[in-house]
Amino acid sequence: METFGIGIAGLGVVGSGVAKNLVKNAELITQRTGFKFEIKAAALRDPALAHGIVDPSKVKLTTNSMELANDPSIHIIVELMGGTDAPRTLIQESLKNGKAVVTANKALLAECGEELTALAAHHRKPFGFEASVAGGIPVLKALREGLVANNILSIHGIVNGTCNYILSQIAQTGSTYGAALAEAQKLGFAEADPTLDVEGFDAMHKTVVLAALAHGFWIPQEMVHVQGISKLASEDFAFAKMLGYTIKLIATVKSHPDGAVEAHVQPTFVPNRHVLASVSSSFNALAIKGDVVGETLFYGRGAGSDPTASAVIADIVDAAAALSGGHAPHLGATHSLYAKIKPYEETMAPYYIRLGALDKPGTLATIAQVFAAHQIGISSVFQPKDHPGDFVPLILLCDTAPERDVRLALAGIAGLGVVNGPATAIRLEEFAP
Ligand SMILES: NC(=O)c1ccc[n+]([C@@H]2O[C@H](COP(=O)([O-])OP(=O)(O)OC[C@H]3O[C@@H](n4cnc5c(N)ncnc54)[C@H](OP(=O)(O)O)[C@@H]3O)[C@@H](O)[C@H]2O)c1
Repeated sequence: METFGIGIAGLGVVGSGVAKNLVKNAELITQRTGFKFEIKAAALRDPALAHGIVDPSKVKLTTNSMELANDPSIHIIVELMGGTDAPRTLIQESLKNGKAVVTANKALLAECGEELTALAAHHRKPFGFEASVAGGIPVLKALREGLVANNILSIHGIVNGTCNYILSQIAQTGSTYGAALAEAQKLGFAEADPTLDVEGFDAMHKTVVLAALAHGFWIPQEMVHVQGISKLASEDFAFAKMLGYTIKLIATVKSHPDGAVEAHVQPTFVPNRHVLASVSSSFNALAIKGDVVGETLFYGRGAGSDPTASAVIADIVDAAAALSGGHAPHLGATHSLYAKIKPYEETMAPYYIRLGALDKPGTLATIAQVFAAHQIGISSVFQPKDHPGDFVPLILLCDTAPERDVRLALAGIAGLGVVNGPATAIRLEEFAP
């Protein structure tokens, strides 16, 4: 029986889940894989906190994670510290020292994924990061293996549980953004400082990783358009419901026939008939379309100690199989090396537009003329009755148009004196076949 030494750097939420489940399901994992795994060492800032997570009589504890990279009894390094500087150095040194590496660190991958996957390929060592996207859902493995025969046409993902919890709460209970966020924090679905999640950056990190697996190149983070959920207005949830939609934070990776790939994260109107609209609470889900398979759907827990540990342990097993003589998964994929990134302003979508319009005959015609001048069709117009004041909400559903033209039209309308402030523009995703 082949035995692999494991070194875990970081015994927090995910690290403790990995340590616990590697022991709890040791026999099952060994029966299925033929491998045995022994946690040889763990790095953490306060070794006293390791008690109850690992057995200190069997597991060496250190405050210096680099000790793991130089420990000859360790074959697989599991990086679960978070942050970027220390994990980057640890992963570099571990790969150079001939160790396999597993991480859940999406922020690091979005920043250094290209460099680290190239380094792993150079040293011919496995480098797994399944847990970096959608926690326990094996979506990267699906892209890498199950969908290997496909050109990936589109990925639409709900990949941030914090945002999905907040959006579901607002849509289902009518609560305010602030109350839904406070509830998420109370239940442990949101951090004390929720910025990374609610402003869309965490979803953007995952979008970079998804695009790399789907299209073989690492999109620079700054080229992924990001818009979070903190500025959404309650009335847009009400109008969405009335029009048959649900607002979700959607991470999109879409390829075009010319090889260009668009990648963005933003609140999106999802039609209630689509399965993503019914993904609620902190769950994640991804709809992935391939040219051979067609539409596929992945659903599950996107975070948390046990679901994330499930993905980390799967990577540990894959790493052991590769070290044992198999092939390391091919991560530095070269199939789209020359792919281009489609600038966000050139990407196309239908839009929901809400304006505060002057309640006077002719206003609608004035606004419609501006859209027409930019070749943007309007498919629906709605104005709630009996709204007090000089300005009333005007809801327009616009046909598919380039982002740039929609922005130009809205800027033009803003200068006409018929609206009382900036327009709200939210994309609609109709999931056309
Ligand atoms: N939590 C999730 O559900 C989840 C899901 C998917 C991916 N991830 C990713 O998994 C990674 C870990 O997340 P987590 O939620 O487990 O974080 P966490 O609970 O904060 O755990 C990180 C642990 O690493 C320790 N640590 C940090 N820097 C260290 C260093 N230089 N040397 C030794 N120990 C160090 C921390 O100690 P201190 O507490 O003393 O700083 C903490 O115990 C992150 O990259 C995260 O993005 C998390």
